[in-house]
Amino acid sequence: VVEVAILGAGRFGRTMHVLLARAGINAALVRRGEAVPPARVIWLAVRDGDLREASAAVPDGALTLHASGALAPSVLPPRLRAGVLHPMMTFPGPEVAIPDVQGVPARVDGHPDALQSAVALASRLGLRPLHITDGTRWHAAACMVSGHLAELTLRAATVLEQAGLDRRDARECLGPLARTSLANVLAHGDAALTGPATRGDRTTTEAHLDVLTGETRDIYATLSRAILARAR
Ligand SMILES: NC(=O)c1ccc[n+]([C@@H]2O[C@H](COP(=O)([O-])OP(=O)(O)OC[C@H]3O[C@@H](n4cnc5c(N)ncnc54)[C@H](OP(=O)(O)O)[C@@H]3O)[C@@H](O)[C@H]2O)c1
Repeated sequence: VVEVAILGAGRFGRTMHVLLARAGINAALVRRGEAVPPARVIWLAVRDGDLREASAAVPDGALTLHASGALAPSVLPPRLRAGVLHPMMTFPGPEVAIPDVQGVPARVDGHPDALQSAVALASRLGLRPLHITDGTRWHAAACMVSGHLAELTLRAATVLEQAGLDRRDARECLGPLARTSLANVLAHGDAALTGPATRGDRTTTEAHLDVLTGETRDIYATLSRAILARAR
């Protein structure tokens, strides 16, 4: 009997398989079409729309966690002792990067037995379990700092490319500023905001809007308005 069977060999499942092994936890990675081995805990690592189909392969009464930040444990069938374990971290797949998860917060929720398993598993991985029932807000916040910040960064790099830098230089050029401003705002909140919108400098903001186009321009305008409102 393995301690954890991870169902789904995508970016999350393959990364967790490595991290569980590093934590000394006996885990099996179950690919599509393979049988689920006897396991103390089953961790579903499939996309939201595949949860129903994947959970059909899980035996009645099994302790079953899913990894979906936004969804309630009740998306899994009531015949399972269902829970959620969702680390607030990005896992682009072991080929790209395996993040350090020590101290990383993780949403846990579910049936009392599943909740206990999720807390125990999180703790053994070095995660910091937080019992959160409002998964939608938890996940919305995660998407804002992960995907949205990444999208904003890639768009800023494109603007630098339009100013003549090549693609790699453009991303590298933004690195020190991106890392420092994020570190400052995480440590000090509003006090760390800088830039023309914070200063109420509309002339500069409007000059930027004159050269930006399409969705990048819309995003810039919306965020500038939000910063102006915060600065006031
Ligand atoms: N990646 C992250 O940063 C991250 C972070 C936190 C939580 N999560 C959570 O992890 C889960 C998976 O996300 P992901 O990013 O790893 O997605 P993904 O890369 O698309 O991987 C999903 C995997 O599940 C497999 N799968 C689908 N149905 C299956 C089934 N019935 N049996 C076995 N395998 C099946 C897919 O195989 P096919 O390709 O053959 O369909 C695919 O390999 C989601 O709940 C997500 O919210 C992800």
